[in-house]
Amino acid sequence: MVNIVIFASGNGTNAENIARHFAGSNSVKVAALFTGNPRAGAIERMSRYGVPCRIFSREQWNNPVEIVDELKRLDTRLIVLAGFLSMVHKPVIDAVGGNIINIHPSLLPRHGGKGMWGINVHRAVLEAGDRESGITIHYVTEEIDGGSIICQRRCPVLPGDTPEELAMRVHALEYEAFPAVIEQLAAQL
Ligand code: GAR
Repeated sequence: MVNIVIFASGNGTNAENIARHFAGSNSVKVAALFTGNPRAGAIERMSRYGVPCRIFSREQWNNPVEIVDELKRLDTRLIVLAGFLSMVHKPVIDAVGGNIINIHPSLLPRHGGKGMWGINVHRAVLEAGDRESGITIHYVTEEIDGGSIICQRRCPVLPGDTPEELAMRVHALEYEAFPAVIEQLAAQL
């Protein structure tokens, strides 16, 4: 059994989709949700699948001794960032030997970096007049959105799209691709 821990800060639809996908799996277990936001929708969503949540303070994320301890206690082999806002520091990356991945709602390197999160990304895609968008699943390093790319999926940007409409199309790609990538990586661990 490969234990994974999901980090999420927001609504948590990707986190829930992953928990649903692996519910009853005998190869991958979603061992916990870690967040820095006590109001994250992800907390309630994950509780529906019996996934426990740990809420850490800003100080604990900045100096992640307890976070690393908890990752080790849970025998974490892979960390999955699913809409996670805080910086991830090196001790956390090292705690899982670099097996830490993120999903980003654009075709990196376009529309990545600081402040590029959620709906802001879709606004930037529309403002730039891009004809296509998509998702990027990549390894996490200390550089925001900088790690090596594992996979990308594309979708069209349609004339008259609102950021919310584009977000829905991109979310559909996320729900399909993310659990499959996690399953593949876990099989290699
Ligand atoms: C997702 O679209 C994810 O790609 C994005 O936040 C959304 C979270 O939605 N992540 C980033 O923008 C990271 N830079 P969710 O909470 O419903 O899963």
